[in-house]
Amino acid sequence: MTTPGKVGLVGSGLVGKSWAMIFASVGYEVWMYDIKQEQLDKAVSDIGLEVEKFEKEGTLRGTLPAHQQKTLIHVTTDLKECITGAVYIQESVPEDLELKKKIWTEIDGLVDSAKMILASSTSCIVPSLISKDLRHREQFIVAHPVNPPYHAPMTELVPAPWTNEFTQTEARTLMTRVGQVPVSLSRELPGFVLNRMQYALLNECWRLLANKVVSVDDLDVVMRDGLGLRYAFMGPMETIHLNAPNGAAQYCQTYGNTIYKVSQDLGPVPEAWKMETDEHKKEVEEITKQLETLYPPKDLDERKLRRDTCLAALAKLKRGLPK
Ligand SMILES: NC(=O)c1ccc[n+]([C@@H]2O[C@H](COP(=O)([O-])OP(=O)(O)OC[C@H]3O[C@@H](n4cnc5c(N)ncnc54)[C@H](O)[C@@H]3O)[C@@H](O)[C@H]2O)c1
Repeated sequence: MTTPGKVGLVGSGLVGKSWAMIFASVGYEVWMYDIKQEQLDKAVSDIGLEVEKFEKEGTLRGTLPAHQQKTLIHVTTDLKECITGAVYIQESVPEDLELKKKIWTEIDGLVDSAKMILASSTSCIVPSLISKDLRHREQFIVAHPVNPPYHAPMTELVPAPWTNEFTQTEARTLMTRVGQVPVSLSRELPGFVLNRMQYALLNECWRLLANKVVSVDDLDVVMRDGLGLRYAFMGPMETIHLNAPNGAAQYCQTYGNTIYKVSQDLGPVPEAWKMETDEHKKEVEEITKQLETLYPPKDLDERKLRRDTCLAALAKLKRGLPK
């Protein structure tokens, strides 16, 4: 089979495995590297089971059958074998700056083309911190997926100040080609975009819970059976544009002052996130107690499976709907 190219994946945990399935789904030759052979063996076995399950359930990505997708995935404990000749590298090792710098120094020494895209899956580390001392730092970019990447295709592309134009546009083109939905940032900033939005929401959730305005379950209903239903199909900006007869300007005219006034009542960032004092810990314990009553620790694996099954079904539904 002719392939569109080779990609090198560094790290074969939760995110690394997803990238392998995503690239193989459209025919890329995938080389996955890890320090542990057992981890690679497990990754291959997990991927095999998953693609077959997705094929049966109609949620397999791409056009190739599962058995062909599997044959495109190779594993190695030799970093050179993973990197040499690849058009794209995606690193997904644990979220530890020193570890990422170490592995990227090793990758940097193996880069054999000025067009090779060097991407990290990091959730929170800004790209300049990882890449500042690399020889090929102009080719470095963060490509941050959201969990589970196979069923939730958004990927944030975050450039360092020195990332070149080619890397930014090519990474975007490539993400689109493999079925991801890229979001290009013009510059790096803490939390990128997804986590800034998520944290703004979490802060208000926490304030409402800590002030005993609402229970954990009822708070989740607001998203699960309210806002979230809309947000699965359109973003908050299209939402406001559709929520007034003549669009966003009229929405702001009608609701802008209310939004401004309510926003002033939101309050500061909850201190409890820091988990420094007994008071912080008590606040966390109270909210955790409610969560554990609803979702006991013994049921968490089952709940995670349910989450991924629901997301797979939603992804399938969205693929069949008009854009
Ligand atoms: N888990 C998520 O929800 C999620 C979502 C988006 C982004 N991310 C980011 O993706 C990255 C990986 O996360 P994950 O959840 O897949 O982690 P993980 O712990 O599941 O996997 C990490 C993998 O890296 C391997 N590894 C460790 N040291 C290595 C080294 N020196 N060289 C090569 N491989 C090495 C481990 O053996 C393991 O296979 C992190 O930066 C994380 O922030 C995670």
